[in-house]
Amino acid sequence: MAFKGAPDIDPEGKKIWLSSPTMHGEEQMWVNDALSTNWVSTVGENIRETERQMASYVGVKYAVALSAGTAALHLAARLAGEKLYGSARVNEGTLRKHRAFCSDLTFDASVNPVAYENGEAIFIDSERETWNMDPAALKIAFERYPDVRLIVTAHLYGTPAKMQEIREIAAEHGALIVEDAAESLGAQYRLNGNWTETGSLGHFNAISFNGNKIITGSSGGMFLTDDREDAEKVRKWSTQSREATPWYQHEELGYNYRMSNIVAGIVRGQIPHLPEHIEAKKAIYERYRKGLEGLPVRMNAFDAENSRPNFWLSCLTIEEDAMCRQTRDDRKASYIPEAGKSCPTEIFETLAAFQIESRPIWKPMHLQPIYRDHAFFTADGEVSCRDFAGLSAENGSGVGADIFRRGLCLPSDNKMTPEEQGKVIELIRRCFD
Ligand SMILES: Cc1ncc(COP(=O)(O)O)c(C=O)c1O
Repeated sequence: MAFKGAPDIDPEGKKIWLSSPTMHGEEQMWVNDALSTNWVSTVGENIRETERQMASYVGVKYAVALSAGTAALHLAARLAGEKLYGSARVNEGTLRKHRAFCSDLTFDASVNPVAYENGEAIFIDSERETWNMDPAALKIAFERYPDVRLIVTAHLYGTPAKMQEIREIAAEHGALIVEDAAESLGAQYRLNGNWTETGSLGHFNAISFNGNKIITGSSGGMFLTDDREDAEKVRKWSTQSREATPWYQHEELGYNYRMSNIVAGIVRGQIPHLPEHIEAKKAIYERYRKGLEGLPVRMNAFDAENSRPNFWLSCLTIEEDAMCRQTRDDRKASYIPEAGKSCPTEIFETLAAFQIESRPIWKPMHLQPIYRDHAFFTADGEVSCRDFAGLSAENGSGVGADIFRRGLCLPSDNKMTPEEQGKVIELIRRCFD
């Protein structure tokens, strides 16, 4: 393995995860409760309580518990399309023949639901202050496509996007917002001067309880809204769109997207621990910030005045002049080690050799082969994704591609001890020797 060695560090040490579930005991209690009362399906007290508690925590009127954050995003996109353009024929999506402006630097689960509904995602670059959708690029995109009425925006790694600006631009154009708060549950944003939870900042909002999230149900997600009719519609769609008739009557397309009462039991047991999970993640971020001081790296940025991230994943970027040569195509990564320099691939491989899990920054959507025909806007204007087809990922354009090239998600597991984190920091330091 071509990395600068660390012979004094035990390569057989305990595995350190990127972000694994942290259980407390109440989860078991609520799961047992479901089993012993035989509510082992997609109805039951755990679902009702989880919905009630999450709606109250996030500060929205209604929460609909679903099988995944992706399901919440899908039904959000479908509902947005129906509101904007009317209901669709059964074999067509509600966004058919329409475009939506979507975060470029995110997990593809944020944006795929636009395609599920036959819409065309147009990608908007990130800004450097939060790594999220750049309002300046969004404005330019609206100049080019003034008829767009839907924005899908994520809060990357638990850091809130510039929602004040994004909401103002949306309002100017009569556009609806799907807020992907899958990674940011518990993060707050100062909207109109008031601290507001992410998950309540769009017209349709989604959170995730996937196994690596800040709290988990092993899987699961939620659709959050202040609109009773929207909540009822999503609940109906998620349970196969049965009409209130004595037989199985279907007047709308349905989905099997409801959360199970077992999964809801795990989420119910996790909810009281959300604040302490955020505290633990924040402490991890602070330890990295201090421990990596003096190296040519920066932690993922956030707007300290207007946001309180949940610090789900701590990430770093390497200064440009401290990057050794790294190439990544659509399959493989390689690099040439260089004294005093490093790159995300070197750090990733070094940590992996010591049983430590890290993760590349999300590869921007405009560099993804499946989206290569789609338009992409940076603060400098429009770029065609097709321009990148077949090129090395290092040749992407804009801020998101630069963060992908120079960045890495660091192990951020809230069961990692300070000593274990010290080992991670020491190994990163040695990559720059
Ligand atoms: C930004 C983002 N959006 C959407 C999702 C999808 O959530 P889920 O895995 O619950 O479907 C995830 C995580 O998996 C995510 O990180």
